[in-house]
Amino acid sequence: MSLQVKIDAALALLQRISHDYSPAVFANSLGAEDMVLTDLIAKSGTTIEVFSLDTGRLPAETYALIQEAAEIYPSVPIRIYFPKTDSVEQYVNEHGINGFYQSVELRKSCCHIRKIEPLRRALAGKKAWITGLRRQQSTTRTDLPEHEFDKDNGLEKFNPLVEWTEKEVWEYIRANAVPYNALHDQHYPSIGCAPCTRAIAMGEDIRAGRWWWEDPANKECGLHVKKI
Ligand code: ADX
Ligand code: SF4
Repeated sequence: MSLQVKIDAALALLQRISHDYSPAVFANSLGAEDMVLTDLIAKSGTTIEVFSLDTGRLPAETYALIQEAAEIYPSVPIRIYFPKTDSVEQYVNEHGINGFYQSVELRKSCCHIRKIEPLRRALAGKKAWITGLRRQQSTTRTDLPEHEFDKDNGLEKFNPLVEWTEKEVWEYIRANAVPYNALHDQHYPSIGCAPCTRAIAMGEDIRAGRWWWEDPANKECGLHVKKI
């Protein structure tokens, strides 16, 4: 399938979501895929809302891109969700400012406080959410459908770029002069919180820089993990 066919399909899907599942929201991490979706949403003329979860630990480059995106895409404003102050205070005072390095359990509880709880608030009252997930991103994502009912969050979930390759994402970004995170040019294909993301070496898996000290089978923060 050519890139143009995939672009047309993604635009048609965004229009269908906006028409059939309003209010729908797009979860924007400001990663390369999400910048493609931001550009497509701007071009689609839909009323899909956009939010980003600011964990308080994002890299400076991501904050710079949030500002740049606001200037370049005034029609697609990003609503920011912060974690609850008292939960963060309790966590850092009990486990230390970087307590997440101590165990998978403490890492997951930090992700819960800083991402999952704010995600629940961002999705409350919505009929559908949209993500930039792709099948090729990880062994945990190879079976990802384009559309499914997200039981845990109680709404529809759409992944319009599910079949896009990394090359196609970058082809789109270059061809459409889409702004992107400066860290991508410094060997960071996948970007999350600053203390939990590092550059990868040549030939390493694209998510090798996320929670690099953990077993690859666990490397999801919980935003997209299904309870069994
Ligand atoms: S993660 O689960 O490992 O953090 P990843 O960084 O690959 O996820 O991003 C996958 C998708 O999850 C993104 O395309 C986006 O839709 C959503 N997402 C991830 N992080 C955030 C964030 N901070 N704010 C909003 N959406 C996010
Ligand atoms: Fe905390 Fe790291 Fe998860 Fe960010 S990615 S919420 S800093 S454990």
